[in-house]
Amino acid sequence: MLPKPEERTGRHSFPVIPPLGYPANDPSGSGRFTGPAPNMFITRGFDWSDTAPGRRRWANALLGRLGIAARLTAPGSTGYQTSVEQRANIYHLVSQVLAYGVEGALVEFGSFTGTVSTLIERGVSAEGAGQEVHVYDSFGPAFGVPDPLEALKQNFANLGLSLPIIHAGPVRETLPAQLPDKIAFALIDIGFGGYEHRAAQHCEDVCFVLGHVYPRLSRGAICTLIDFWDPRWHTNEVHENPGVTLACDRFFADKPERVAALYGGSYTQGYFRKL
Ligand SMILES: C[S@@+](CC[C@H](N)C(=O)[O-])C[C@H]1O[C@@H](n2cnc3c(N)ncnc32)[C@H](O)[C@@H]1O
Repeated sequence: MLPKPEERTGRHSFPVIPPLGYPANDPSGSGRFTGPAPNMFITRGFDWSDTAPGRRRWANALLGRLGIAARLTAPGSTGYQTSVEQRANIYHLVSQVLAYGVEGALVEFGSFTGTVSTLIERGVSAEGAGQEVHVYDSFGPAFGVPDPLEALKQNFANLGLSLPIIHAGPVRETLPAQLPDKIAFALIDIGFGGYEHRAAQHCEDVCFVLGHVYPRLSRGAICTLIDFWDPRWHTNEVHENPGVTLACDRFFADKPERVAALYGGSYTQGYFRKL
């Protein structure tokens, strides 16, 4: 039976995702779900939910009566780790490599508490063919979370998903030894914020990851870079990790691929497809 809306969207404390109350890829709970997974889960089980639609409608009616054009909308992003637009991008990029049978594992660098990793795993479990999912992170306390690895395990358990292959430690210790030979999808998100004063180190780290991942990407594989900022397109979005664009400018200077900006709501993102 479908859980009541308040059970699905109730306010909860982050970073641990509450149990969904239905199988991860079967929102009807009927057990009859087949075919490509609906991607509605990108709006659920994350760090926000639409808890006050009534009050918003009331406020919007008032704004209308006052002749003010602005309207309140349901939260599309909270400013915490990922926006719903980024998750929509990630879901479709994962789905694409699975649908086209691109060879290799799916990997995430900077998995933190695993919210995006659960999204990748849900894609693989619904639409994949048993591909491995690998996550890499130093898993030190960050963003107010004392034990991100424990939170990641809890998030996967709460969604009824199998754990990915976990590589704990700085990427300079785990790469390249712990990388799969072939990669179909890679997500790089190893920023800590810090704006300009961390940009040089961040750029070095992203180049280091790209240097080992790029040769392992199969033809048609996708790599997405969170925080990629393209000044031709991005204007008002959060721009806390300029090291990503510095790394892309340097790394792709002698490569045939180009990183394209993706609309990411309040955050930014880019991707390239391996030629
Ligand atoms: C912005 S968070 C990632 C958020 C995550 N992708 C999500 O959607 O929830 C950045 C993560 O990168 C990790 N990180 C940063 N530099 C790293 C490095 N050199 N080696 C391993 N992990 C690193 C941090 O520990 C942190 O958990």
